[in-house]
Amino acid sequence: MKILVTGGAGFIGSHTLVELNAAGHDTVVVDNLSNSNRKSLERVAELTGKEIPFYEVDIRDRKGLNRVMEAHHFDACIHFAGLKAVGESVEKPWEYYENNIGGTLTLLDVMRHHGCKNIIFSSSATVYGDPAIIPITEECPKGHCTNPYGQTKSMLEEIMMDMQKADKEWNIVLLRYFNPIGAHPSGRIGENPNGIPNNLMPYITQVAIGKRKELGVFGNDYPTPDGTGVRDYIHVCDLAAAHVCALKAIIRQSGIGIYNIGTGHGYSVLDMVKAFIRVNGVDVPYSIKPRRAGDIATCYCNPAKAKAELGWEAIYGLEEMVRDSWNWQKNNPNGY
Ligand code: NAD
Ligand code: UFG
Repeated sequence: MKILVTGGAGFIGSHTLVELNAAGHDTVVVDNLSNSNRKSLERVAELTGKEIPFYEVDIRDRKGLNRVMEAHHFDACIHFAGLKAVGESVEKPWEYYENNIGGTLTLLDVMRHHGCKNIIFSSSATVYGDPAIIPITEECPKGHCTNPYGQTKSMLEEIMMDMQKADKEWNIVLLRYFNPIGAHPSGRIGENPNGIPNNLMPYITQVAIGKRKELGVFGNDYPTPDGTGVRDYIHVCDLAAAHVCALKAIIRQSGIGIYNIGTGHGYSVLDMVKAFIRVNGVDVPYSIKPRRAGDIATCYCNPAKAKAELGWEAIYGLEEMVRDSWNWQKNNPNGY
């Protein structure tokens, strides 16, 4: 199949390009490089042995998107492009709504005008808010998102469901990602955060390499086994593979499919730190800090629906996740 990959230069997009090309798909990338670097695409070309056509286009740019869709006939779009920093979204709500919602509306409109109505969308576990059920199934009601970033994901899910209700030609897969970490085992592509990392794993790797003094563990008084927050960390290559499985399904079935993409295992912050130290033989100094506003105690999923309907399940475990995160950081101390 020929796939339009928006946001393909980013962390999850670049890993998904590798999986898509390995599965025999052709890919074309649209990215405005607002949070990425074109070197990631050079590395993807190196790993796949294939040049990946790239358009430096913003998804809010209708003319630019039209140009891309006139030059290629796409079977489906995998839509990663978006802003994703939770804290920044609280500071800059308009920018988040305009980029994520405005951009996606433009993309969907251009797609339908070109007769391409198959889309896989990067949603997030954040739509569950503080989850009513653990482990979280797709039947778990959506919760209150405490930040504009989460709101954009939740609203975009609703928008796409309404569009599909009105026009049955749309085939839509909403993948609710849990916490992606790790990197391609080659160490050639990985997560490349700008400035101080918000997320746990890039913070740990930057402490391990000496860029930051110590990790702050945000709270040790949660109702969890060791008091620190519990999450469902998933290797980014497993997450990438889920998109390949979702593509097969999108062609077989029509309608809306919603899937949790996680491992089903919950690990605490201290579990992650200890595993990182043990597997990689490096030190990660840390100290306990107050809770971070908006954080929840526990978030992990039941991924059975993705296994039953998409034939996908995670294969990498915690050791590979912390090993590959470190392998990427130590081989690329300053990112790309
Ligand atoms: P990323 O920032 O590495 O990748 C997103 C890409 O989109 C970047 O390359 C950026 O330059 C591009 N982009 C942003 N706005 C754009 C626009 N208007 N036009 C064109 N390109 C644009 O992030 P990621 O971690 O790879 O996340 C990919 C998707 O998955 C995002 O939609 C994100 O919200 C979602 N997601 C990520 C996580 C996570 O923890 N990483 C969790 C759940 C969901
Ligand atoms: N944490 C620390 N110290 C840090 C960073 C994080 O203790 O420096 C803790 C957090 O308190 C939390 C856990 O590590 O308990 C994970 O935090 P992350 O920031 O890595 O991830 P979140 O679960 O908060 O959120 C991430 C993404 C969201 C996405 C969500 C669910 O940032 O965009 O996963 O997929 F919605």
